[in-house]
Amino acid sequence: MPRILVLGAAAGGGFPQWNSNAPACRRARAGDAKARPRSQSSLAVSRDGSSWFLLNASPDLRAQIESNPPLHPRHGLRSTPIAGVVLTNADVDHVAGLLTLRESQRLVLYATERVHAVLRANSIFNVLDPALVRRESVALDRPSALTGADGRDSGLCIELFAVPGKVALYLENAQADAGSGTAIGDTVGAKVYEIDRPGDCFFYVPGCASMPADLARRLAGAPLVLFDGTLWSDDEMVRAGIGRKTGKRMGHMSLSGPDGTIAAFASLSVRRKVLVHMNNSNPVLLDDSPEHAAATAAGWEIAVDGIEIAL
Ligand code: MLT
Ligand code: MN
Repeated sequence: MPRILVLGAAAGGGFPQWNSNAPACRRARAGDAKARPRSQSSLAVSRDGSSWFLLNASPDLRAQIESNPPLHPRHGLRSTPIAGVVLTNADVDHVAGLLTLRESQRLVLYATERVHAVLRANSIFNVLDPALVRRESVALDRPSALTGADGRDSGLCIELFAVPGKVALYLENAQADAGSGTAIGDTVGAKVYEIDRPGDCFFYVPGCASMPADLARRLAGAPLVLFDGTLWSDDEMVRAGIGRKTGKRMGHMSLSGPDGTIAAFASLSVRRKVLVHMNNSNPVLLDDSPEHAAATAAGWEIAVDGIEIAL
């Protein structure tokens, strides 16, 4: 099993979110030990502990690197243990950190063709010098070996697969269709494993709108799944008066309820289940909430920044 560092366990906006004065964010800001702050959505994975791949690059990436010593430069005057980045969609919380990775550093960027097209269409990402940063299109449902910019094999393999979701907020096209122009490859999950040990894998699915049967089959029996924990209930932002959108509208299934994530995983026999990408409105972020207790009782761990997950 690869080494996994949770760099950021919150959804877009983080916890507390910069403009939120809601009670939970106030608790986090006040240093309440049961309302632990979380930065935005990202993991780092490694086989050997010296070369790392980011799974998503959050707007908080610079601080995440500084808080995680394995990601600090170790050689010469300029270097990084970060060999590359894998993207699961083009949402702001998953791509803005790419801008932090400028400064003439060789890297490889892995994503679906849909996500690469978004990056190409936004010229600000050219700060990642094309001469130094290789952009690899990853086909769905096929193993792809992760190599660093020097061509060195990391010993890690990923398999990206489409999951129900929505095109990035800033690309929504209300005129397009009921899905605002969403297409296959806009939102994916990743299976990650050491190349010679495919059974010893984990799944990373930080955004998922529903649990169709083929996704349930894919995840069933997995040793470890890190899954979309955005919302507890579909309308929690509306009821709290902090937003107009439901989870369904945002492309996220909720934890509670008959169609919810907790129910969907109840029969999947996943050995270890960890919630990531939690929105600041989600009461599971509060260690003393009934929802936190309910998720824990159902076998879920609620990620915090800086933990290393090892099976
Ligand atoms: C999401 O996960 O739905 C997006 O990150 C929302 C956003 O772009 O703020
Ligand atoms: Mn997000």
